[in-house]
Amino acid sequence: MMSERPRVAILISGGGSNMVALVRDMQSDDHPAIPALVLSNRADAGGLQKATELGVATAVVDHRPHGSDRAAFEAEVQAVLEAHKIDLICLAGFMRRLTEAFTRAWAGRMINIHPSLLPLHKGLNTHARALEAGDTWHGCTVHEVTGELDDGPILGQARLVVRPGERAQDLAARVLQLEHRLYPAVLRHFAAGDRTMVNLE
Ligand code: GRF
Repeated sequence: MMSERPRVAILISGGGSNMVALVRDMQSDDHPAIPALVLSNRADAGGLQKATELGVATAVVDHRPHGSDRAAFEAEVQAVLEAHKIDLICLAGFMRRLTEAFTRAWAGRMINIHPSLLPLHKGLNTHARALEAGDTWHGCTVHEVTGELDDGPILGQARLVVRPGERAQDLAARVLQLEHRLYPAVLRHFAAGDRTMVNLE
């Protein structure tokens, strides 16, 4: 049973710029959700300090002691999520593959942002691949997380026109700005139980 205002955990592995955008938006009075936790698999993730500065509880669950035992790592993550009474999960630069069992347990309550216009360019190095492919359009997608990598029902997309001769790092920076607009917009709908597609340019 979801609490009055859904309690959101944001899972990160790095700088957490998407996490900051989500938390800042949730801290406005009219937002339907509460930023309850920022959890990282890496103690050195820059986003942890940013979360603390924003007044959000943080936790670290290091994946390394578990080696290749993803289920053991996820059991530790699950215990922390339950301790914080989490209702919804936002993956934001979280770089660990999740098992089918974990994604099934959170089905319909876990979303992710991917830096491409899915289903194009699943996986890594999406900006270089979009340039390589000569794509006219590129951008980012927020989708529900399933057992398949970068798959699952699409909740929103933001797109831009690729500039001829643009470098991958410049394209990545422009897409990241779109991500910071798209993810908060989608979470507002998702947290209110509204799956209306969000499209931004
Ligand atoms: C972003 O490109 C995001 O699309 C991907 O991870 C990158 C870093 O995100 N999932 P952040 O700055 O850590 O939010």
